[in-house]
Amino acid sequence: MNKTRLRVMGIAFCSVLVLIAGCAKDTPQNVLKPEGPFSRAPDSIIRPVFLIAGLVFVFVEGLIVLAVVMFRRRSDDERPEQIHGNTAFELAWTIIPIVILAGVGFLTVSKIFFLDKQHPKALQVQVIGHQWWWEFNYLDAKGKMVARTANELHIPVGEKVQLRMTSADVIHSFWPPKLAGKIDVVPGRTNNLAIQADKADFYYGQCAEYCGLSHANMRLRVVSQPKAEFEAWLAANSVETPANTYPIVNAATSSTASDVEKGYTLFLQKGCSGCHAVNGVAKGAVGPDLTNFNSRATFAGAIFPNDDDSLRAWLRNPPAEKPGSLMPNLKLSEAEITQLTAYLRTLGDPALRGVAPSGQAAATPGAATP
Ligand code: CUA
Repeated sequence: MNKTRLRVMGIAFCSVLVLIAGCAKDTPQNVLKPEGPFSRAPDSIIRPVFLIAGLVFVFVEGLIVLAVVMFRRRSDDERPEQIHGNTAFELAWTIIPIVILAGVGFLTVSKIFFLDKQHPKALQVQVIGHQWWWEFNYLDAKGKMVARTANELHIPVGEKVQLRMTSADVIHSFWPPKLAGKIDVVPGRTNNLAIQADKADFYYGQCAEYCGLSHANMRLRVVSQPKAEFEAWLAANSVETPANTYPIVNAATSSTASDVEKGYTLFLQKGCSGCHAVNGVAKGAVGPDLTNFNSRATFAGAIFPNDDDSLRAWLRNPPAEKPGSLMPNLKLSEAEITQLTAYLRTLGDPALRGVAPSGQAAATPGAATP
Protein backbone atom coordinates (compact mmCIF):
# COMPACT_ATOMS: atom_id res chain seq x y z
CA MET A 1 0.00 0.00 0.00
CA ASN A 2 1.46 3.38 -0.91
CA LYS A 3 1.86 6.24 1.54
CA THR A 4 -0.91 8.46 0.17
CA ARG A 5 -3.43 5.66 0.36
CA LEU A 6 -2.37 4.86 3.92
CA ARG A 7 -2.77 8.51 4.88
CA VAL A 8 -6.22 8.77 3.31
CA MET A 9 -7.34 5.62 5.13
CA GLY A 10 -5.94 6.97 8.41
CA ILE A 11 -7.85 10.23 8.03
CA ALA A 12 -11.04 8.35 7.08
CA PHE A 13 -10.67 6.06 10.10
CA CYS A 14 -10.18 8.99 12.50
CA SER A 15 -13.16 10.84 11.00
CA VAL A 16 -15.38 7.78 11.52
CA LEU A 17 -14.15 7.55 15.14
CA VAL A 18 -15.03 11.20 15.73
CA LEU A 19 -18.47 10.69 14.17
CA ILE A 20 -19.13 7.58 16.26
CA ALA A 21 -18.13 9.48 19.42
CA GLY A 22 -21.02 11.83 18.65
CA CYS A 23 -23.44 8.90 19.06
CA ALA A 24 -22.57 8.28 22.73
CA LYS A 25 -25.63 8.09 24.96
CA ASP A 26 -24.04 8.80 28.31
CA THR A 27 -22.40 12.21 27.87
CA PRO A 28 -22.28 13.95 31.24
CA GLN A 29 -20.36 16.91 29.81
CA ASN A 30 -22.35 17.34 26.59
CA VAL A 31 -22.37 21.05 25.83
CA LEU A 32 -25.25 20.55 23.39
CA LYS A 33 -27.56 19.30 26.15
CA PRO A 34 -27.83 22.32 28.45
CA GLU A 35 -29.68 21.87 31.74
CA GLY A 36 -29.94 25.40 33.04
CA PRO A 37 -30.82 28.90 31.80
CA PHE A 38 -27.19 30.05 31.71
CA SER A 39 -26.11 27.21 29.43
CA ARG A 40 -29.30 27.35 27.35
CA ALA A 41 -28.57 30.99 26.44
CA PRO A 42 -25.40 30.25 24.44
CA ASP A 43 -26.95 27.01 23.17
CA SER A 44 -29.86 28.97 21.72
CA ILE A 45 -27.39 30.90 19.52
CA ILE A 46 -25.45 27.83 18.40
CA ARG A 47 -28.40 26.39 16.46
CA PRO A 48 -29.46 29.41 14.33
CA VAL A 49 -25.83 30.44 13.72
CA PHE A 50 -24.93 26.90 12.69
CA LEU A 51 -27.93 26.82 10.37
CA ILE A 52 -27.00 30.16 8.74
CA ALA A 53 -23.34 29.14 8.43
CA GLY A 54 -24.42 25.79 6.94
CA LEU A 55 -26.62 27.45 4.32
CA VAL A 56 -23.86 29.92 3.40
CA PHE A 57 -21.37 27.06 3.13
CA VAL A 58 -23.60 24.98 0.85
CA PHE A 59 -24.44 28.03 -1.31
CA VAL A 60 -20.84 29.21 -1.74
CA GLU A 61 -19.38 25.72 -2.23
CA GLY A 62 -22.20 24.97 -4.68
CA LEU A 63 -21.33 28.04 -6.76
CA ILE A 64 -17.64 27.08 -6.76
CA VAL A 65 -18.40 23.53 -7.96
CA LEU A 66 -20.81 24.92 -10.56
CA ALA A 67 -18.19 27.38 -11.83
CA VAL A 68 -15.48 24.72 -11.97
CA VAL A 69 -17.67 22.36 -14.00
CA MET A 70 -19.50 24.85 -16.24
CA PHE A 71 -16.61 27.17 -17.07
CA ARG A 72 -13.73 24.72 -17.24
CA ARG A 73 -11.32 25.04 -20.14
CA ARG A 74 -12.49 22.72 -22.89
CA SER A 75 -9.58 23.06 -25.32
CA ASP A 76 -5.95 24.21 -25.14
CA ASP A 77 -6.49 27.47 -27.00
CA GLU A 78 -9.75 28.45 -25.30
CA ARG A 79 -9.53 31.76 -23.42
CA PRO A 80 -12.18 32.93 -20.91
CA GLU A 81 -14.23 35.98 -21.75
CA GLN A 82 -12.64 38.98 -20.01
CA ILE A 83 -15.00 41.00 -17.83
CA HIS A 84 -14.47 43.85 -15.39
CA GLY A 85 -16.75 44.54 -12.42
CA ASN A 86 -20.47 44.05 -11.90
CA THR A 87 -22.12 46.63 -9.68
CA ALA A 88 -25.23 44.58 -8.91
CA PHE A 89 -23.23 41.52 -7.81
CA GLU A 90 -20.76 43.57 -5.78
CA LEU A 91 -23.55 45.36 -3.94
CA ALA A 92 -25.31 42.05 -3.26
CA TRP A 93 -22.28 40.26 -1.84
CA THR A 94 -21.52 43.21 0.38
CA ILE A 95 -25.03 43.88 1.67
CA ILE A 96 -26.19 40.28 2.24
CA PRO A 97 -23.27 39.36 4.56
CA ILE A 98 -23.78 42.65 6.47
CA VAL A 99 -27.42 41.77 7.07
CA ILE A 100 -26.56 38.19 8.12
CA LEU A 101 -23.77 39.28 10.48
CA ALA A 102 -25.90 42.05 11.96
CA GLY A 103 -28.59 39.41 12.73
CA VAL A 104 -26.04 37.07 14.34
CA GLY A 105 -24.54 40.03 16.23
CA PHE A 106 -27.93 41.06 17.57
CA LEU A 107 -28.60 37.51 18.85
CA THR A 108 -25.15 37.30 20.42
CA VAL A 109 -25.07 40.70 22.09
CA SER A 110 -28.46 40.19 23.77
CA LYS A 111 -27.22 36.87 25.23
CA ILE A 112 -23.96 38.49 26.34
CA PHE A 113 -25.94 41.06 28.35
CA PHE A 114 -28.11 38.28 29.82
CA LEU A 115 -25.06 36.24 30.86
CA ASP A 116 -23.20 39.27 32.18
CA LYS A 117 -26.01 40.27 34.55
CA GLN A 118 -25.08 40.14 38.24
CA HIS A 119 -27.36 38.53 40.81
CA PRO A 120 -26.52 40.12 44.15
CA LYS A 121 -29.57 38.58 45.86
CA ALA A 122 -28.70 35.03 44.80
CA LEU A 123 -26.57 32.61 46.81
CA GLN A 124 -22.98 33.88 46.59
CA VAL A 125 -20.09 31.45 46.32
CA GLN A 126 -16.46 32.40 46.02
CA VAL A 127 -14.61 30.03 43.70
CA ILE A 128 -10.82 29.81 43.94
CA GLY A 129 -8.83 27.77 41.46
CA HIS A 130 -5.72 26.03 42.78
CA GLN A 131 -3.14 23.73 41.20
CA TRP A 132 -5.07 21.32 40.95
CA TRP A 133 -8.34 21.57 42.81
CA TRP A 134 -11.24 23.94 43.41
CA GLU A 135 -12.06 25.79 46.61
CA PHE A 136 -15.68 26.83 47.17
CA ASN A 137 -16.46 29.36 49.89
CA TYR A 138 -20.12 30.11 50.61
CA LEU A 139 -20.72 33.72 51.57
CA ASP A 140 -23.55 35.34 53.54
CA ALA A 141 -25.24 38.62 52.59
CA LYS A 142 -22.35 40.57 54.11
CA GLY A 143 -19.72 38.65 52.20
CA LYS A 144 -18.55 36.67 55.22
CA MET A 145 -17.61 33.04 54.64
CA VAL A 146 -20.16 30.72 56.24
CA ALA A 147 -19.25 27.36 54.75
CA ARG A 148 -16.39 25.86 52.80
CA THR A 149 -15.78 22.85 50.62
CA ALA A 150 -13.58 21.62 47.78
CA ASN A 151 -14.14 20.22 44.28
CA GLU A 152 -17.85 19.49 44.78
CA LEU A 153 -20.04 22.58 44.60
CA HIS A 154 -23.44 22.01 46.20
CA ILE A 155 -26.26 24.23 44.98
CA PRO A 156 -30.03 24.35 45.49
CA VAL A 157 -31.91 23.09 42.41
CA GLY A 158 -33.76 25.65 40.27
CA GLU A 159 -32.11 28.66 41.92
CA LYS A 160 -29.58 31.14 40.60
CA VAL A 161 -26.15 30.91 42.17
CA GLN A 162 -23.67 33.74 41.70
CA LEU A 163 -20.05 32.61 41.54
CA ARG A 164 -17.25 35.09 42.34
CA MET A 165 -14.19 33.55 40.82
CA THR A 166 -10.48 33.97 41.21
CA SER A 167 -7.27 31.93 41.34
CA ALA A 168 -4.62 31.35 43.97
CA ASP A 169 -1.80 30.63 41.52
CA VAL A 170 -2.13 30.44 37.72
CA ILE A 171 -4.99 30.90 35.26
CA HIS A 172 -7.55 28.09 35.35
CA SER A 173 -10.94 27.87 33.69
CA PHE A 174 -14.13 26.78 35.43
CA TRP A 175 -16.37 24.75 33.14
CA PRO A 176 -19.44 22.68 34.04
CA PRO A 177 -20.67 22.35 30.39
CA LYS A 178 -24.32 21.53 31.11
CA LEU A 179 -24.70 24.53 33.43
CA ALA A 180 -22.58 27.32 31.98
CA GLY A 181 -19.97 28.33 29.46
CA LYS A 182 -16.37 28.25 30.58
CA ILE A 183 -14.87 31.24 32.33
CA ASP A 184 -11.24 31.87 33.20
CA VAL A 185 -10.24 32.33 36.81
CA VAL A 186 -7.35 34.77 36.95
CA PRO A 187 -5.07 35.59 39.92
CA GLY A 188 -5.74 39.05 41.34
CA ARG A 189 -9.03 39.46 39.50
CA THR A 190 -12.65 38.51 40.17
CA ASN A 191 -14.74 37.14 37.33
CA ASN A 192 -18.45 36.53 37.73
CA LEU A 193 -20.51 33.62 36.53
CA ALA A 194 -24.09 32.65 37.27
CA ILE A 195 -25.21 29.02 37.24
CA GLN A 196 -28.55 27.33 37.78
CA ALA A 197 -29.55 23.68 37.40
CA ASP A 198 -32.95 22.47 36.14
CA LYS A 199 -32.94 19.26 38.14
CA ALA A 200 -31.33 17.59 41.12
CA ASP A 201 -28.31 15.76 39.74
CA PHE A 202 -24.52 15.58 39.62
CA TYR A 203 -23.11 17.88 36.95
CA TYR A 204 -19.58 17.13 35.86
CA GLY A 205 -17.03 19.72 34.87
CA GLN A 206 -13.34 20.32 34.54
CA CYS A 207 -10.63 22.92 34.36
CA ALA A 208 -10.54 24.11 30.76
CA GLU A 209 -7.32 26.11 30.68
CA TYR A 210 -3.91 24.44 30.65
CA CYS A 211 -2.56 25.10 34.14
CA GLY A 212 0.37 22.75 34.64
CA LEU A 213 1.20 19.06 34.98
CA SER A 214 -2.12 17.90 36.40
CA HIS A 215 -4.40 20.16 34.40
CA ALA A 216 -6.16 17.03 33.12
CA ASN A 217 -6.68 15.94 36.74
CA MET A 218 -8.52 19.09 37.77
CA ARG A 219 -12.14 18.13 37.59
CA LEU A 220 -15.17 19.35 39.47
CA ARG A 221 -18.74 18.44 40.23
CA VAL A 222 -21.79 20.52 40.82
CA VAL A 223 -24.22 18.72 43.11
CA SER A 224 -27.67 20.19 42.63
CA GLN A 225 -30.14 19.20 45.34
CA PRO A 226 -33.59 20.05 46.70
CA LYS A 227 -33.56 23.17 48.88
CA ALA A 228 -34.02 21.36 52.21
CA GLU A 229 -31.25 18.88 51.39
CA PHE A 230 -28.97 21.74 50.36
CA GLU A 231 -29.71 23.67 53.56
CA ALA A 232 -28.83 20.59 55.62
CA TRP A 233 -25.59 20.21 53.69
CA LEU A 234 -24.75 23.89 54.15
CA ALA A 235 -25.42 23.76 57.89
CA ALA A 236 -23.22 20.66 58.26
CA ASN A 237 -20.41 22.35 56.33
CA SER A 238 -20.57 25.54 58.38
CA VAL A 239 -17.20 26.99 59.31
CA GLU A 240 -18.60 27.43 62.81
CA THR A 241 -19.04 23.69 63.34
CA PRO A 242 -15.93 22.20 64.95
CA ALA A 243 -14.74 18.82 63.72
CA ASN A 244 -14.27 15.88 66.04
CA THR A 245 -11.31 16.27 68.31
CA TYR A 246 -9.27 13.68 70.13
CA PRO A 247 -6.80 13.83 72.99
CA ILE A 248 -3.30 14.11 71.60
CA VAL A 249 -1.52 10.91 72.40
CA ASN A 250 2.19 11.15 73.17
CA ALA A 251 3.33 9.32 70.12
CA ALA A 252 1.52 8.02 67.09
CA THR A 253 2.76 4.57 67.94
CA SER A 254 1.43 4.55 71.50
CA SER A 255 -0.12 1.15 71.98
CA THR A 256 -2.84 2.55 74.19
CA ALA A 257 -4.37 4.84 71.60
CA SER A 258 -6.88 3.72 69.04
CA ASP A 259 -6.23 4.05 65.28
CA VAL A 260 -8.39 7.18 65.14
CA GLU A 261 -6.46 8.89 67.94
CA LYS A 262 -3.14 7.87 66.42
CA GLY A 263 -4.32 9.15 63.06
CA TYR A 264 -5.24 12.46 64.70
CA THR A 265 -1.77 12.73 66.20
CA LEU A 266 -0.15 11.88 62.86
CA PHE A 267 -2.29 14.56 61.23
CA LEU A 268 -0.72 17.11 63.58
CA GLN A 269 2.81 15.65 63.61
CA LYS A 270 3.37 14.77 59.95
CA GLY A 271 2.64 18.26 58.68
CA CYS A 272 -0.85 17.54 57.27
CA SER A 273 -2.24 20.27 59.53
CA GLY A 274 0.20 22.80 58.06
CA CYS A 275 -1.59 22.64 54.71
CA HIS A 276 -5.11 21.44 55.49
CA ALA A 277 -7.72 23.11 57.66
CA VAL A 278 -9.95 21.12 60.00
CA ASN A 279 -12.30 23.30 62.03
CA GLY A 280 -11.10 23.54 65.62
CA VAL A 281 -8.01 21.43 64.88
CA ALA A 282 -5.88 23.02 62.15
CA LYS A 283 -5.86 26.13 60.01
CA GLY A 284 -3.68 25.14 57.04
CA ALA A 285 -4.73 27.00 53.92
CA VAL A 286 -2.65 25.44 51.15
CA GLY A 287 -4.72 22.34 50.43
CA PRO A 288 -8.44 21.59 50.64
CA ASP A 289 -10.32 22.03 53.93
CA LEU A 290 -10.79 18.54 55.36
CA THR A 291 -13.37 19.32 58.07
CA ASN A 292 -16.04 17.50 56.06
CA PHE A 293 -13.78 15.32 53.92
CA ASN A 294 -16.22 12.39 54.14
CA SER A 295 -19.18 14.33 52.90
CA ARG A 296 -17.46 14.54 49.51
CA ALA A 297 -17.76 11.66 47.03
CA THR A 298 -14.35 12.39 45.50
CA PHE A 299 -11.03 13.94 46.42
CA ALA A 300 -7.84 15.41 44.89
CA GLY A 301 -9.54 17.51 42.20
CA ALA A 302 -12.55 15.18 42.02
CA ILE A 303 -10.53 12.52 40.21
CA PHE A 304 -10.56 9.72 42.81
CA PRO A 305 -13.64 8.16 44.38
CA ASN A 306 -13.54 8.79 48.11
CA ASP A 307 -13.13 5.15 49.14
CA ASP A 308 -10.49 3.54 51.34
CA ASP A 309 -8.48 1.97 48.49
CA SER A 310 -8.10 5.27 46.65
CA LEU A 311 -7.36 7.16 49.86
CA ARG A 312 -4.66 4.67 50.89
CA ALA A 313 -3.04 4.84 47.46
CA TRP A 314 -3.12 8.62 47.66
CA LEU A 315 -1.57 8.79 51.15
CA ARG A 316 1.12 6.30 50.07
CA ASN A 317 2.42 8.57 47.29
CA PRO A 318 0.33 11.53 46.09
CA PRO A 319 2.61 12.64 43.19
CA ALA A 320 2.51 9.08 41.82
CA GLU A 321 -1.29 9.23 41.74
CA LYS A 322 -1.46 12.76 40.42
CA PRO A 323 1.62 14.12 38.63
CA GLY A 324 2.94 17.36 40.09
CA SER A 325 0.76 17.10 43.19
CA LEU A 326 1.80 19.73 45.73
CA MET A 327 1.08 17.22 48.49
CA PRO A 328 4.42 15.46 48.95
CA ASN A 329 5.11 11.80 49.55
CA LEU A 330 5.33 11.68 53.36
CA LYS A 331 6.77 8.14 53.28
CA LEU A 332 4.09 6.88 55.64
CA SER A 333 4.15 3.28 56.80
CA GLU A 334 1.14 1.05 56.04
CA ALA A 335 0.19 1.24 59.74
CA GLU A 336 0.33 5.04 59.64
CA ILE A 337 -1.81 5.06 56.50
CA THR A 338 -4.38 2.91 58.30
CA GLN A 339 -4.38 5.33 61.25
CA LEU A 340 -4.64 8.47 59.11
CA THR A 341 -7.43 6.88 57.07
CA ALA A 342 -9.24 6.00 60.28
CA TYR A 343 -8.98 9.61 61.46
CA LEU A 344 -10.04 11.09 58.10
CA ARG A 345 -13.10 8.82 58.13
CA THR A 346 -14.34 10.61 61.25
CA LEU A 347 -14.47 13.94 59.40
CA GLY A 348 -17.85 14.69 57.87
CA ASP A 349 -20.98 12.72 57.13
CA PRO A 350 -20.97 10.48 54.01
CA ALA A 351 -24.77 10.71 53.90
CA LEU A 352 -24.31 14.30 52.66
CA ARG A 353 -22.61 13.32 49.40
CA GLY A 354 -25.75 13.77 47.37
CA VAL A 355 -27.32 11.47 44.80
CA ALA A 356 -25.46 10.27 41.71
CA PRO A 357 -27.00 10.60 38.21
CA SER A 358 -27.83 6.89 38.26
CA GLY A 359 -30.19 7.69 41.13
CA GLN A 360 -28.01 5.78 43.57
CA ALA A 361 -26.40 7.40 46.56
CA ALA A 362 -22.65 7.87 46.19
CA ALA A 363 -20.71 4.99 47.69
CA THR A 364 -20.02 5.21 51.38
CA PRO A 365 -16.39 4.94 52.43
CA GLY A 366 -15.15 1.44 52.84
CA ALA A 367 -18.20 -0.01 51.11
CA ALA A 368 -16.21 -0.70 47.93
CA THR A 369 -13.42 -2.34 49.89
CA PRO A 370 -14.06 -5.92 50.92
CU1 CUA B 1 -6.58 24.24 36.29
CU2 CUA B 1 -6.26 23.48 34.07
